[in-house]
Amino acid sequence: MCGIVGYTGTQQAAPVLLDGLARLEYRGYDSAGLAVRNGSDLAEVVKSTGKLRGLIEKTDGGRSLAGTCGIGHTRWATHGEPSQTNAHPHVSGNCSGSGSGLVESEVTGVHNGIIENYLELKEKLSRHGYQFYSDTDTEVVVKLIDYYYKKYKIGPVDAINRTLVRIRGTYALALMFRDYPGEIYAARKDAPMIIGIDGSESYLASDVPAILNYTRTVYYIGNLQIAQLRPGEVHFFDLNGDEIQLESTQITWDAKSAEKNGFEHFMIKEIYEQPAAVRDTLTSLVTEGRITLEAAGLSDEVLRGISSVRIAACGSAWHVGMAAQYILEDLAEIPVRVELASEYRYRKVLHVDGELLVVISQSGETADSLAALRKAKDLGIRTLAIVNVVGSTIAREADHVLYTHAGPEIAVATTKAFSAQLAAIYCFAVQAAYVRGLIDSDQYDGYLRELASIPDKIERILEEKERIQWFAAKYANARDIFFIGRGLDYAISLEGSLKLKEISYVHSEAYAAGELKHGTISLIEDNLLVIGVLTQKDLFEKTISNMAECKARGAFLMALTSYGNYSVEDSANFTVYVPKTDPHFMASLAVVPLQLFGYYSGVARGLDVDKPRNLAKSVTVE
Ligand code: F6R
Repeated sequence: MCGIVGYTGTQQAAPVLLDGLARLEYRGYDSAGLAVRNGSDLAEVVKSTGKLRGLIEKTDGGRSLAGTCGIGHTRWATHGEPSQTNAHPHVSGNCSGSGSGLVESEVTGVHNGIIENYLELKEKLSRHGYQFYSDTDTEVVVKLIDYYYKKYKIGPVDAINRTLVRIRGTYALALMFRDYPGEIYAARKDAPMIIGIDGSESYLASDVPAILNYTRTVYYIGNLQIAQLRPGEVHFFDLNGDEIQLESTQITWDAKSAEKNGFEHFMIKEIYEQPAAVRDTLTSLVTEGRITLEAAGLSDEVLRGISSVRIAACGSAWHVGMAAQYILEDLAEIPVRVELASEYRYRKVLHVDGELLVVISQSGETADSLAALRKAKDLGIRTLAIVNVVGSTIAREADHVLYTHAGPEIAVATTKAFSAQLAAIYCFAVQAAYVRGLIDSDQYDGYLRELASIPDKIERILEEKERIQWFAAKYANARDIFFIGRGLDYAISLEGSLKLKEISYVHSEAYAAGELKHGTISLIEDNLLVIGVLTQKDLFEKTISNMAECKARGAFLMALTSYGNYSVEDSANFTVYVPKTDPHFMASLAVVPLQLFGYYSGVARGLDVDKPRNLAKSVTVE
């Protein structure tokens, strides 16, 4: 969603801010803005709608904005339409127009998230003579801080603290005060924000890639804590205004991993990074031929004590959960229920002793997944997070964490994080099966050998990408496409369908193959493409029959199966083969051609596949 950057140091701030915002472009936005201050002068605010290019042109690449301290923002509209007036930064001064230029203002700020009670606060501030030029909740927060700051004649930390206890919602705030040149103040609640330091430079960002080129030393500011940034220096305060100490962390991500490195899009680069993402995740969880989950606190005893698993996640991470259901129930014989986090969070939840709630999330910041985690914790349920972003809120709040090692994922549509999540699930399932006495050590070693072979097999699939590229181009203008499969193949179908929809805007549906004839088959017509996923031997014949039913009604059939299942060609018009592996792990291979299909469909339609319309990388609002 929105992106925040901040900088105070010895360099000119605007080019650093623009560079940081460019690295957050993938998160999705509709307008952008900067506020830069030079010494004790007022902050100068520049905003523009549309792509960041507009802001870069307006500021001559940042050169027209002098000053070594500033904040920047990319906005994904929530309150108020995407417009220059509603774009951030916002100012506390009473001004007309869009709040741009050199504005007489005590407080200037940017904000990610939503302030739920902003209307009530707006009314209160209006009664005290404040006027509003925008429709945003952000302008209300900035003016509320200004109100406390002036009314009680207190410093920025106390004014922010008084505001934090009045506002409800999720937010990350970056603020500058006219009386405090060279300083930036930041606070957050349930929205990401990190602080980075390097020599005499201080940085602030809502996401790691924004500052990866400048520093690896970061602080994760906690909920309802305040950071005060000065050049090369940062201080933290709690809600009482008392200074607190936070430990810095070193980011291990390589700056190059957030670059395209010659690929046309981040998405295709990340599809190619999947062998490494899976390998690195497996390496982190397997030592000397044994899966080691103890570091996450998942001892053999804990694994044996799990009575049931409930998985809560959103989007593709939910699809990993759907796959996990089949794998965990079959291998470890643990009953599993998979829920959309947005549903779980708002309903009465009945749970049993020994239940484990697993939250799967790339970003570790998805609002619904975080709420599901907190709900489970409130109910006293043990929680496990499978997360990619180190230090993210979900990772910090869960009882146990298994990190995936996919590196920064920039394309909005997830690919390598999805694959890394599957790898973590496999390790969890195999280890649980072993310690619960369901597999012996020979079977255990066999599973580990199969897991270790997955990265090479993904590489082999990628070598044949041209065939899928050709096929995707042929169907790029399709109106509807159906994906069908049973069991684990249904979970794979769900992910294939989502990849296609979000990237190419072609409508598609994923159906459990046996369910088609209960209604959906009425949509099958001449030349409609039906993609059958057939990786599970026991279900192969059943799904073939369902595909044949579609063909009889005019459908064109694509089959996705493993080498050796050549009889599929008796029914399918076009077949894609992937290498064989243990059936439990087939999702890792079968998903790759479907990712390529979604990607090349979007490319063939000339779309911005890294930033599909209306979507944001991490969904930090409900
Ligand atoms: C789809 C996609 C989304 C995410 C979902 C959850 O390609 O990326 O569906 O999977 O928004 O995000 P995380 O994993 O960050 O919780």
